[in-house]
Amino acid sequence: MFVTFEGIDGSGKSTQARMLAEALRGLGHEVVLTREPGGSPGAEEIRRLVLEGDPARWSAETEILLFTAARRDHLERTITPALAAGKVVVCDRFADSTRMYQGLSRGDLRATVDRLHDLMIGREPDLTLLIDIDPAVGLSRAKGRQGHEERFEDMGLGMQEKMRAGFLGLAQEFSARFRVIDGARDPAAVAAEVLATVRAARA
Ligand code: ADP
Ligand code: TYD
Repeated sequence: MFVTFEGIDGSGKSTQARMLAEALRGLGHEVVLTREPGGSPGAEEIRRLVLEGDPARWSAETEILLFTAARRDHLERTITPALAAGKVVVCDRFADSTRMYQGLSRGDLRATVDRLHDLMIGREPDLTLLIDIDPAVGLSRAKGRQGHEERFEDMGLGMQEKMRAGFLGLAQEFSARFRVIDGARDPAAVAAEVLATVRAARA
């Protein structure tokens, strides 16, 4: 099973991905916990290029190519082999993030994102958990981490609001695989709903 977490920055995806992986291991599953951009050595190198530096460093079109290149490498080297070996793959962000961040943030490039996805990736998750949170809360949580990977957070609150609305729209567009989870609760409460949702989807 291929499970992805999506949502705006600071929504709690990484926390929940980690907790889900631990819970599934506790139930006896073999789990590969991974993330995007990254998840393979080559893709982690691309991660530095796209997440550090000036927000205007790359155009949206160039970003589509870089994120898709990272995803292709991640898929070839990490995700596909793990799924073939019968493992559960839990991934923090995947192609839906490109549909949103590159597809919506600077004009409407969704059709370009989708065409490149069809050509180079051609795979969707079995289940996508959208952790939904108020953008101001998300941004303040994300800023609280004080890291160096802030290119998208530096695009500001307006952008996070646009991304939240976009993700909720995507959940309707792909309603068969999306589940929306309220992220404004303590991590254990969110994790309990996440685990129940995954178990229901496997049944
Ligand atoms: P994301 O991966 O979506 O950016 P993280 O899981 O890294 O989010 O969480 C961002 C910050 O918020 C971290 O400092 C984390 O400890 C904290 N956090 C995560 N989940 C919650 C929650 N449910 N309530 C409060 N703080 C949280
Ligand atoms: P991530 O490390 O998940 O950040 P956060 O924990 O703050 O949510 O992702 C880093 C940034 O990369 C995030 O701001 C969204 C952006 N991103 C894209 O723009 N396109 C993509 O395809 C992916 C996977 C991420």
